[in-house]
Amino acid sequence: MSLSRRKTLTLIGGGTVLAASAAGAGFMATRTPYVAQAPWGAAGTYEDPRLNALSFALLAPNPHNLQPWQVALEGDDGVALFHDQTRRLPETDPFDRQITIGLGCFLEQMVLAAGAAGYQVTLELYPEEPDGPVARARFAQGGSADPLSAHILDRRSCKAPFADQPLTPAQANELELYADIYTDGGTVGALKTLTWEAWQVEAHTPRTLRESVDLMRFGKAEINASPDGIDLGGPVLEALMLAGVLTREGQLEPDSEGFKQGVAIYNEMLAATPAYAAIVTQTNTRADQIEAGRRWLRLNLKTTAMGLALHPVSQCLQEFPEMERHKQSAHRLLAQRGQTVQMLGRLGYGPDVAPTPRWPLEAKRLDA
Ligand SMILES: Cc1cc2nc3c(=O)[nH]c(=O)nc-3n(C[C@H](O)[C@H](O)[C@H](O)COP(=O)(O)O)c2cc1C
Repeated sequence: MSLSRRKTLTLIGGGTVLAASAAGAGFMATRTPYVAQAPWGAAGTYEDPRLNALSFALLAPNPHNLQPWQVALEGDDGVALFHDQTRRLPETDPFDRQITIGLGCFLEQMVLAAGAAGYQVTLELYPEEPDGPVARARFAQGGSADPLSAHILDRRSCKAPFADQPLTPAQANELELYADIYTDGGTVGALKTLTWEAWQVEAHTPRTLRESVDLMRFGKAEINASPDGIDLGGPVLEALMLAGVLTREGQLEPDSEGFKQGVAIYNEMLAATPAYAAIVTQTNTRADQIEAGRRWLRLNLKTTAMGLALHPVSQCLQEFPEMERHKQSAHRLLAQRGQTVQMLGRLGYGPDVAPTPRWPLEAKRLDA
């Protein structure tokens, strides 16, 4: 069975799906998981300024789209953010480092959305360590709009091959205000090799592979019923599901046709990368991880504003024993001794991709 790799983005290992279809726009429309995408339309439709900001915050990037947040309104002006402890990645993120980065992305998006609506937010991180909220926020009138907030609804993690078009030095300089940017052939080549090898380690370690496969949602009905995890949808993939090529069992079996196609697609995608961005911190505290998430979100909004695509590639930063060698290589390439590389992403010109699923705000409120 031949599958146009150009038309399909990711089968396994973290990702969304697909662009155009040989089957035509009509079938495409019928396979779109509108229910799962509805929170993108609901953002900004709430009266309470806190709910309004939260309705944008939940569109933030986060690992495996687990959406590990829970929120509660407190008093007239407060919000508490909690980590939903049922939403973890124990195999690939045993210390919740990436999950915490996702919560940092959420907080930054909340602050930006509040500012755009004329509210300023004061944040207190981990006010009741160790088991309490991740943050308490207070909203007060008087905020102003950061230009980045205009790009919240267009931001994506672009899981697709990028065009063979380099960034200009001026673009790289502008983005250096947000992250470390790598465009030189030597480092880009080394990172391509590293990200591909690390991806294979995760895909060929049975327990880490299973963690991803357990989070896969196969087709529109599953995606709408559980709007989180790794959404495999759209006409081409659903045709492969109907043909029995793309199955949950097959994704666990490296010898299956569906698995091999996923490997080929990911290989091609990772290779099609003209530049990288990295976020590095001096230490590796929870506050550092939250700050790394806030910086990543700002970078992702800035790349959106500049017409560039960004895609996290986290495998080589993960903290499980089989990955240790690759984690060390990433740190040798991207950090000074003692620093932590919190995020690594592909950077370049990518296609438009659809918004990913989200649980609605109502499903994430502890107080309602
Ligand atoms: C800390 C962190 C790590 C991530 N790592 C990966 C990754 O390794 N591979 C990948 O395809 N996406 C990765 N993502 C992107 C998420 O899969 C993505 O944010 C999520 O599916 C929601 O999609 P969106 O960002 O397009 O809204 C990561 C995101 C975060 C915040």
